[in-house]
Amino acid sequence: MNSPTDTHADAAKQAAADNAIQRVLVLEMVRVTEAAAIAAAQLIGRGDEKAADAAAVEAMRKAFDNLYIDGTVVIGEGERDEAPMLYIGEKVGMGKGPKIDIALDPLEGTTITAKAGPNALAVLAAAEEGCLLNAPDTYMDKIAVGPGYPEGIIDLAKSPTENVKAVAAAKGCDPSQINVCVLDRPRHAELIAELRELGCGVVLIGDGDVAGVIAVTDEETTVDLYMGQGGAPEGVLAAAALRCVGGQFNGRLVFRNEDEKARARKWGITDLDRIYKLEDLAKGDCIFAATGVTSGSLLDGVKRRRKPTGEVYMTTESVVMRASSGTVRWIRGEHRIA
Ligand code: FBP
Repeated sequence: MNSPTDTHADAAKQAAADNAIQRVLVLEMVRVTEAAAIAAAQLIGRGDEKAADAAAVEAMRKAFDNLYIDGTVVIGEGERDEAPMLYIGEKVGMGKGPKIDIALDPLEGTTITAKAGPNALAVLAAAEEGCLLNAPDTYMDKIAVGPGYPEGIIDLAKSPTENVKAVAAAKGCDPSQINVCVLDRPRHAELIAELRELGCGVVLIGDGDVAGVIAVTDEETTVDLYMGQGGAPEGVLAAAALRCVGGQFNGRLVFRNEDEKARARKWGITDLDRIYKLEDLAKGDCIFAATGVTSGSLLDGVKRRRKPTGEVYMTTESVVMRASSGTVRWIRGEHRIA
């Protein structure tokens, strides 16, 4: 029988092994997003959202096969009966190794890709089992701010004006100096009017609110706040990124009908009005990885290049971050074309 000291030592060894696995996984995740981005990039500007998405999904699915994980998709392409691959509940990886939950969007920005616009990404978040919210495919009201502000400075229960004023006061500037990123949608007409009334700069994006939310963490974008309604799955992905680099996020699910409420209940959500904060969406240690499909504020897109020798290759730019260490790695890849 093991002595208590042996048991303690075994637990410590296991913890060290788990940590080593996670560290290896960080880089492995980039292979997965790179594969999806390269596949989707073949369809940039081709006007076919579905084909671009399908290419990314298939490539991502295949790339997972090589990972030493017992992975489960918790946010994916839809429910089993509506998505052939990477559906919610699908097992990915080699089926051995750490039990990992995965939230993914093989192509965040299908329309962007079809129209060759900016900021399309292949993206995923991974965390220990049970650490990512199983968000239903509904909308989510979102507000996000970058790092360095007092905890609780943003509050979805308050008006946009109150939130802007709170951030402006903390920043020591006038509300008119605050820049807010918002998805350009008719449903945001009132929000945009309210922000413009305050004199704010409103940075309108056509699509891609994962990159929109992450923009608040990057001083170069000059975006102070993200506000508005976008996809709930994208909210979880963006929250995982903010867990790694800092910042605050509030999200509240938005239901358009009873069917959407039923979907939420199916995933164990009982309080339909709850305001989720970062740790409610992505807790514990988590990894966020993204590869640019088209160039944007976060990453460069996939590019086809030719070496002086005539060899054609693709370049990718990716970012991978980990919550427990706060390490952010920017990775440039060169991929030979078979
Ligand atoms: P897709 O890649 O699924 O097209 O999502 C793009 C996106 O802009 C998301 O970033 C955003 O959360 C959502 O769509 C907003 O939804 P809608 O286009 O219905 O306003």
